[in-house]
Amino acid sequence: MPTSIASISGAPHARVLGVGAYRPTRLVPNSDVVDAIDSSDEWIQQRSGIKSRRWAGPEESVQMMSVAASRVALERAGLDGSQIDCVVVATVSHLLQTPAVATAIAHELGTDAAAFDISAACSGFCHGMAMAADFVRAGSARHVLVIGVERLTDILDLTDRGTAFIFADGAGAAVVGPSDTPGIGPVVWGSDGEQFDLIRQREDWRDVVGTPEAPGSGVMPHLTMQGNSVFRWASFAMAKIGTQALDRAGITLDELDVFVPHQANMRIIDAMARSMKLPPHVRIARDIAEQGNSSAASVPLALDRMIADGEARSGDTALLIAFGAGLSYAAQVITVP
Ligand SMILES: CC(C)(COP(=O)(O)OP(=O)(O)OC[C@H]1O[C@@H](n2cnc3c(N)ncnc32)[C@H](O)[C@@H]1OP(=O)(O)O)[C@@H](O)C(=O)NCCC(=O)NCCS
Repeated sequence: MPTSIASISGAPHARVLGVGAYRPTRLVPNSDVVDAIDSSDEWIQQRSGIKSRRWAGPEESVQMMSVAASRVALERAGLDGSQIDCVVVATVSHLLQTPAVATAIAHELGTDAAAFDISAACSGFCHGMAMAADFVRAGSARHVLVIGVERLTDILDLTDRGTAFIFADGAGAAVVGPSDTPGIGPVVWGSDGEQFDLIRQREDWRDVVGTPEAPGSGVMPHLTMQGNSVFRWASFAMAKIGTQALDRAGITLDELDVFVPHQANMRIIDAMARSMKLPPHVRIARDIAEQGNSSAASVPLALDRMIADGEARSGDTALLIAFGAGLSYAAQVITVP
């Protein structure tokens, strides 16, 4: 008979207590990126809906943007950093293999909480939200800070026609904590590793460094993307995932108030809304027009803007869905804080 190990449980339910964002101060219009990729403002707007993007300046590091977004989220949650007992950072652009940026962020916020990074590209924030809700309910943590942050300009080839105009920088954060009623629905998540190469870092670091016999390129391994294939996958497969997340949360389309999809491309957002047959009363996040695609930061940034603009109100029911490299995806219904 094995020795019995004590089991704990946490809060009956979890909910989002506060959301915050940090947008880099530099707003880059299409006119500033078109020359390097032989494109035009008209082409970019028509194909992606992007008019401008936020690109970070030298001082706007992954850590700095994360801390700024987190401070806003904490204030809105009515908490200070010392009350956070887990920090989850979703990012692909913290350019140190180790340690995780999460520990430095936790320290700056005044907590010695468990802190770690997760790598699920554009879907990372919704993965983090699922984990946070489970941690709170299981008793592993009482208050979890989930951050989605990117400084993609560091890994962007500004002469690559397929990516240079799409990607952007920024940070969004959410505090997840205990609740008497359900505020975060069951996650629907998954991956399609057969399409591993569709969005990826171009080369392995070892190929960049090389060997004495075979010197490497010595050039930053940029992001590459087979845009057309990603577009087809996202437009069709992801609508089904959104519908499943609504079904698993027991929410009908009539009960849905807000749709916050990953801000990948305006045409993908429109295609998903059509496929899911979203009724006209559902307000849809369209942050991409001004912000560009900021990968793991895109969903919390878009949600924060909708709250700021009064399009998402406290108590509203919102569907979050994020998808990207891996390929990977995650979706859940939340109550807007
Ligand atoms: C990147 C994207 C906008 C490109 O649009 P597209 O319609 O697939 O473009 P294609 O690559 O098929 O190219 C179509 C034409 O535009 C041209 N083109 C490609 N990039 C261009 C650019 N930046 N500017 C101007 N023309 C461009 C191509 O040369 C091609 O010309 P041709 O018809 O004369 O051969 C689109 O594929 C996309 O948004 N995909 C999803 C990306 C995404 O959401 N990624 C994030 C997921 S996390």
